[in-house]
Amino acid sequence: MSIYGDYIKSVIRTVPDWPQPGVNFRDITPLLQNSAAFRKLIDSFVHRYQEMDLDAIAAIDARGFIIGAPLAYELGCSFVPVRKKGKLPFKTISQTYTLEYGQAEVELHSDAFREGDRILIMDDLIATGGTMLAAAELISRSGGQVVETAAIIDLIELGGSQKVRDAGYSVFAVCS
Ligand code: PRP
Ligand code: ADE
Ligand code: MG
Repeated sequence: MSIYGDYIKSVIRTVPDWPQPGVNFRDITPLLQNSAAFRKLIDSFVHRYQEMDLDAIAAIDARGFIIGAPLAYELGCSFVPVRKKGKLPFKTISQTYTLEYGQAEVELHSDAFREGDRILIMDDLIATGGTMLAAAELISRSGGQVVETAAIIDLIELGGSQKVRDAGYSVFAVCS
């Protein structure tokens, strides 16, 4: 949890029963609309990662892009998109993962980074952890060094971040 955790949490809206009954959807759009809050969010990630000598931010399609791009700009490192299947035009490697119902797949360009590069994986939220874990496995299989996985929100009670940690990856979230 970061020093701005409570404040960032206060500008995230919870929408009950969306997209289906029983889900409390964490809507980050009020945070994005609030320029002071968005700046504090990016600044808190910059503060955490500025001394970590990162080579790239690998951000997850789509909401991860919103945070990953300004962070890469601020840190002066590469931006690598981890995209949903069928969006990247060049040679790709992919990783399937399990959703509540069925399977999904994320992809990475084969030339996205160099062997041994130090990479931070960024997304907006960790729920079951399936998306983050798939991205981490994809980066690792591609020869990248996953320095940390990061999100704005960790829904701890769903156990996803623990699953990512149990697989050997470090996890950081601004709030839960
Ligand atoms: C959401 C969220 C995370 C993921 C978390 O993305 O942005 O990426 O689910 O869920 P998990 O921990 O259970 O895998 P989603 O694919 O729904 O849509 P997006 O394109 O809006 O990011
Ligand atoms: N993705 C998976 N679960 C979510 C939730 N509760 N809120 C927002 N995005 C999500
Ligand atoms: Mg997403």
